[in-house]
Amino acid sequence: MGNKNWWKEIVVYQIYPRSFQDSNGDGIGDLKGILSRLDYLKDLGIGAIWLSPVCKSPQDDNGYDISDYQDIDPMFGSLEDMELLIQEAGKRDIRIIMDLVLNHSSDEHPWFKEARKSKDNPYHDYYVWRDGVEGTPPNDLGSTFGGSAWEWVPELGQYYLHLFSVKQPDLNWENPKVRQEIYDMIQWWMDKGVGGFRLDVIDLIGKQPDLKITGNGPNLHQYMRELSKETFQKGDLLTVGETWGATPESAKLYSNPDGSELSMVFQFEHISLDEQEGKGKWDLQPLDLLQLKKVLSKWQTELKGEAWNSLFWNNHDLPRIVSRWGNDGEYRVQSAKMLATLLHGMQGTPYVYQGEELGMTNVRYPIEEYRDIELLNLYKERVENGYAEKEVMESIYAKGRDNARTPMQWDASENAGFTDGKPWILVNPNYTEINAEESINDPHSIYHYYKTLIQLRKEHEVIIYGDYELLYPEDTNLFAYTRTLGDTKLLVLCNFYGNTVTFDIPEEFGEDKTLLISNYADVHSENELRPYEARMYLLV
Ligand code: GLC
Ligand code: CA
Repeated sequence: MGNKNWWKEIVVYQIYPRSFQDSNGDGIGDLKGILSRLDYLKDLGIGAIWLSPVCKSPQDDNGYDISDYQDIDPMFGSLEDMELLIQEAGKRDIRIIMDLVLNHSSDEHPWFKEARKSKDNPYHDYYVWRDGVEGTPPNDLGSTFGGSAWEWVPELGQYYLHLFSVKQPDLNWENPKVRQEIYDMIQWWMDKGVGGFRLDVIDLIGKQPDLKITGNGPNLHQYMRELSKETFQKGDLLTVGETWGATPESAKLYSNPDGSELSMVFQFEHISLDEQEGKGKWDLQPLDLLQLKKVLSKWQTELKGEAWNSLFWNNHDLPRIVSRWGNDGEYRVQSAKMLATLLHGMQGTPYVYQGEELGMTNVRYPIEEYRDIELLNLYKERVENGYAEKEVMESIYAKGRDNARTPMQWDASENAGFTDGKPWILVNPNYTEINAEESINDPHSIYHYYKTLIQLRKEHEVIIYGDYELLYPEDTNLFAYTRTLGDTKLLVLCNFYGNTVTFDIPEEFGEDKTLLISNYADVHSENELRPYEARMYLLV
């Protein structure tokens, strides 16, 4: 069953601060807003909050462009607010997981301002520069947000590397001074009592731009081990890396149970299954359930005893799961609960993204109402390149990051109780029906279902540590598996679609089983699942 660790046993809740709760009417969520909602999170039963970045930032990429790693952006509050948040969350047994953006800083960070002054400035080598001539970048490496990854600085006759926006220059991890600054900064946050870190695009830090290697560079794991040794290993933290290119093999390095790197990583293999092969996220194709079963099961079995999974459907970069792989119309409630059952029944640490527990949905706004840099760049680029506007908008409705970033829907009052002012991005118009207040009052809501799932995890060790086995691998409607810990077995049955499916329940589950949770009020027939029906049984 592997080692026991506190971070395997909890559920993490991700907050995107600018969209969670505004406290001062400027239309932007902030730390005081989060403080005012801690009891809501305590009631839900979560054990940690992953906070998307709140450090000082010009907000070119909503805080993923940091200009001071040791201060809070005034838009979100002050360092005192942050200290209070850590303390108040702690009183409720909730740890705060900070988002560390270490691959790049903001171009407004003092290091970069110095670095671009001259080639012999002591900070010049903090970033990645190449000599060149204007108009001919060192190579054709592209930025994730469109265009070249190289930006020309005429005063220096050099280009700098930015794998994201021009305002996010890449830090030079080859420079030991950069690494030391980072370790000191992390230690400073550890001393403030944070419970761990999420490491933004950490698989890029070993890049070799001349060879056009970005992810999984040759020195990556050497850097990871040094980083971990100099910082994380001095505490008992939850550390999770964002690693788009992770394979089970690399995950076993990142998440080695000897603790030499991180607790776990976010892998994205399942997330790419509705993209056309060889293209990016914007080129859509329907999800193949057999593929999803195969991929998730592979991660479950291959990491067993050798690494630890993180389990997620959503984050601030992804569309809402109920709209994506569930049904956000007639079966919104059933399908959201089914997807939750499927995920929380697996082995790994589950992450809930704000509003997921309410079954919040994607949006379809006119282009002027969107705010995300990636989405706006995509729109411009594709329209200029002759794509039909309608087609571009369909991609944005399906995959745009702003789907996840609309304000949290607290109640049916104006602006969903998110702000007294004008929200920085429109509230999803369905907030009058879908909101936390409604959900708390309705014992059959998605919210209460999540709460029960989180509670079950605390009561049944098999949910945390049991071994996974896929059932009916060839069934194109049913996603079913067992978990086994000693004599205890868990059976999870999920109908992924809107039609009724029949099957034969495995013999060993014939009798003597307890229904732990289900998204229908009764069991119609043991061998039949109605649209999006999900059940979790315990066999002792
Ligand atoms: C990660 C973040 C994303 C950000 C990017 C650059 O993928 O999750 O929001 O834009 O890194 O920092
Ligand atoms: Ca505010």
